[in-house]
Amino acid sequence: SAVLSRVNEILAEHNGMEGPLLPILHAIQESFGHVPQAALPVIAQHLTLSRAEVHGVMSFYHDFREQPAGRHVLKLCRAEACQSMGADRMAEHAQRRFGIEWHETTKDGAVTLEPVFCLGLCACAPAAMVDGRLVGRLDEARLDALAEELR
Ligand code: FES
Repeated sequence: SAVLSRVNEILAEHNGMEGPLLPILHAIQESFGHVPQAALPVIAQHLTLSRAEVHGVMSFYHDFREQPAGRHVLKLCRAEACQSMGADRMAEHAQRRFGIEWHETTKDGAVTLEPVFCLGLCACAPAAMVDGRLVGRLDEARLDALAEELR
């Protein structure tokens, strides 16, 4: 398939590299917007890892997506400074508002919700990133406004 031939190309590009798994996963996600399920056994075999090991690395790093993202990606900071400024409450509010959990996408394909660990905007906690744009001092009203904007 087209997916697998691109995956094989990427694997070949990383031949001989030390610690190739993360760069390979990044390259695949860059190519497809996510890491397709079908790629996992191919990567595992190529690197003589088990599928569980590849999957474990994917879920440890929060950067990788197993499903294509929605039209918009909303990342909410989960790190300490934001936690102390109500990040948990923001996360609950966003999950309720969109009706999704972490890493899920709304049914209409509009929004994917992802956790992120420090956006470097700690002074303006709680912080978020919307399609690559930083948003600070998040509160319920701002989240609601974002939700409207992203529909
Ligand atoms: Fe959230 Fe740094 S802890 S931006």
